Amino acid sequence: MSTPSSPSSLFSLDALFDNPLFAGGIGLASLGAAAAFARKGAIAALGAARRRLLVNVEISKQDPAYPWILAWLSQPRETPGFIASRLTRIHNLSVTTTTSSRGPNVNGPTNAHFFLQPGYGRHIVKFGSAYIAVNREKHSTANMNTGEPHEVVQMTTLWSHRHAFEAIFGEAHRLAAKANEGKTVVYSARGMEWAPLGDPRKKRPLGSVILDEGVKDNIVGDVKDFLSRQKWYVDRGIPYRRGYLLFGPPGSGKSSFIQALAGELDFAVATINLSEMGMTDDKLAYLLTKMPKRSLLLLEDADAAFVNRRQRDSDGYSGASVTFSGLLNALDGVAAGEERISFLTTNHIDRLDPALIRPGRVDMMLRIGEATRFQAAQMWDRFYGDVDQEGSARERFLQRLDELGLFGKDKDGNPSNRHTSTAAIQGLFLFNKNDTQGAIDMAEGLIPRKFEAEDTVPDGAIKTPA
Ligand SMILES: Nc1ncnc2c1ncn2[C@@H]1O[C@H](COP(=O)(O)OP(=O)(O)OP(=O)(O)O)[C@@H](O)[C@H]1O
Ligand SMILES: [Mg+2]
Repeated sequence: MSTPSSPSSLFSLDALFDNPLFAGGIGLASLGAAAAFARKGAIAALGAARRRLLVNVEISKQDPAYPWILAWLSQPRETPGFIASRLTRIHNLSVTTTTSSRGPNVNGPTNAHFFLQPGYGRHIVKFGSAYIAVNREKHSTANMNTGEPHEVVQMTTLWSHRHAFEAIFGEAHRLAAKANEGKTVVYSARGMEWAPLGDPRKKRPLGSVILDEGVKDNIVGDVKDFLSRQKWYVDRGIPYRRGYLLFGPPGSGKSSFIQALAGELDFAVATINLSEMGMTDDKLAYLLTKMPKRSLLLLEDADAAFVNRRQRDSDGYSGASVTFSGLLNALDGVAAGEERISFLTTNHIDRLDPALIRPGRVDMMLRIGEATRFQAAQMWDRFYGDVDQEGSARERFLQRLDELGLFGKDKDGNPSNRHTSTAAIQGLFLFNKNDTQGAIDMAEGLIPRKFEAEDTVPDGAIKTPA
């Protein structure tokens, strides 16, 4: 008797598996699944191994070490061995060009320096016995202040070679320090950050700035004394800050002196022009809390803040430049940085407010004034010391300036209000290089020129007398 076939027999698995097509398909599918599974496993294992076996260091463009590392990477290095030298070749380079016109031939072409650095992408470098994979990447996000895209350099090496990084960072820093040896770095505010202003300049020797007798020793002695007393301040809980105000007419050497002082102390200069448009109280306060290390703060045109006495409007807006109270708060408000040496300069001491002259804001005020007899003599010696060894021409020059009443007395000894600046004397000497008589003959040009009232001068270009 026949039995009704059970439903299972309708879709009999046996029958299915007996079907060679189906069995083959299943076989293939399970093989594929196993392979995918193995691949996933392998990737996970590789990831885990990578995490365990490799170390990764990321340096972002914001970090001060970023340019040092790029410079270190572009160092030429000997890589012995055929494979190693092929492996570590850098095929992607980017170039940074600086031009200078300081060639021996004035009319000649400008000098250009090309600085090659590893470009974006992956590279391999060898350091000692360690191979290091380097990946320089540009991100799609950008710095809101400067508009520059974010950038990182990643360096990866074996865990067992992780100590190479310390050595690399040390070497990169030494390299950067060596490049700046004998130079003064000048920082200026770019947006909300400090950025080097041009290339580091050659240090200006302190001896090349000629101030009146004793003035230079006075400031230099005070700054050096302050620098040696950090512990004294810290022990007594006093903020380690000192401020100087240099005032006087234009071209008396204030800025030059601060630059030379920075060189002497091996400091950088961080400069802000207070009359600059867009410099606000908040920005100033923020920048002062983020000063580059080992730098002198230079606030030029401090009188700009004396003029702008306007307090904040009710809507919190304080105008596009720094207010007086903003300056005071930045210098010693609660948010002020703990360690700082600041120099303020102004041409208009009469606009000064006594509130500024307080320990912690300005501890020392110095007038750097018009050229004195002492300064004129010293400047002469610096320029003509080799051609006027016995100093006879110098005496004639000084006598001439006396006759012209340029040292504050006329030739009869009565006070005169005629003065000249050290910058003008420098200009005269530069015009008469090696020509002492020429300098004496042209000394009359040192008399400060007063510009005529507008209606007496015809329109058009004004020719400056030679
Ligand atoms: N006392 C000085 N000794 C040597 N050089 C000087 C002196 N004074 C001025 N100079 C020269 O004159 C130029 C202008 O000087 P500097 O910029 O330092 O003047 P300043 O006092 O800062 O003027 P300002 O008040 O206009 O800013 C520089 O080239 C500098 O070398
Ligand atoms: Mg100046």
